[in-house]
Amino acid sequence: MWNKHQVVEHIIGKQREQAKAKGKAFAPSNIALCKYWGKRDAELNLPVTSSLSVSLHHLGTVTEIMRATEKDHIVLNGIELDEHEPFAKRLITFLDLYRPHPEFKFKVNTSNNIPTAAGLASSASGFAAMVLALDDFFAWNLSLQDLSILARMGSGSAARSLMNGFVLWQAGSRSDGMDSFAKSLDIEWPEFRIGVLTLSDLEKSKSSRQAMTETINTSILYKSWPAQVSRDLDRLLTAIQNKDIQLCGETAEQNALSMHATMIASWPPTLYWLAETVSTLNRVWEMRKQGIPVYITMDAGPNVKLIFEKNISTKIQNVFKCEIIAPFASFSNLNFHKRER
Ligand code: PMV
Repeated sequence: MWNKHQVVEHIIGKQREQAKAKGKAFAPSNIALCKYWGKRDAELNLPVTSSLSVSLHHLGTVTEIMRATEKDHIVLNGIELDEHEPFAKRLITFLDLYRPHPEFKFKVNTSNNIPTAAGLASSASGFAAMVLALDDFFAWNLSLQDLSILARMGSGSAARSLMNGFVLWQAGSRSDGMDSFAKSLDIEWPEFRIGVLTLSDLEKSKSSRQAMTETINTSILYKSWPAQVSRDLDRLLTAIQNKDIQLCGETAEQNALSMHATMIASWPPTLYWLAETVSTLNRVWEMRKQGIPVYITMDAGPNVKLIFEKNISTKIQNVFKCEIIAPFASFSNLNFHKRER
């Protein structure tokens, strides 16, 4: 079994000395249509199952990295954090993996255009933007596959935030995790839409890491999760290939609700939902009864994302106050590192 340091040593070796004045990158947030829920290795964030997501285009994180003197500085959305705050501690621990020597200090300036820690996967875009910015800063020129492995060690779902569009993170089976990385499915679905409803931007009460561990350890329902994922991945790949919104939406919604069922059935139980979450679900189910093909998915938080196609965007906007994302729109105005290697 490898630890994080061994993985970093294997991927970047000794290439740590040639830091530029500044490294900068953007990475999108992503929402899973088939969830990652449960680790087979907590040190390297190796998942029990594969997962499939769609990236949220311009919603995500921009990160700049510079060299600092004396101590690390972490600036989140324009505010310098105390180094003992949990978020700063988590980033500093991650940066420890990349210091050329212990006295090397970083200044990190990171900004999200999505609420932090409200189940909108800002840790995913955060760690993906961080490894892309480090790649720029140290001029590593790594492949997206290697960057995905590095991002995974910050936060599992970050492995999927290096690419646009539909992304598959293959679980892999090796104990060093070198076969556990994400890749783009390279399928365009221009009419595909995600509606992002922010019902709460409060910090969540329990981290997904803790909820996952408690679910694996205590939820009998978790035993059926790998079978659920294997069925849902097959269905989603077919649905995406055929641009079948009904199969895609129904599968993603059942997958998300099944994930929540496993954690509700754990001990102590985890229920991220608010009253607004439940009323949103009821409203979506009511719309489907009226023949409107809209579906939901949710991560480890109270917020709901809607899945639908462009032709019903006006209907969605008439009912919900939400930001509509077109994951396959062009990136003409965004400095996004879409690298093909
Ligand atoms: O990346 P983490 O450790 O925060 O895990 C998040 C897992 C979910 O968001 C709940 C599901 C997923 O696949 O993104």
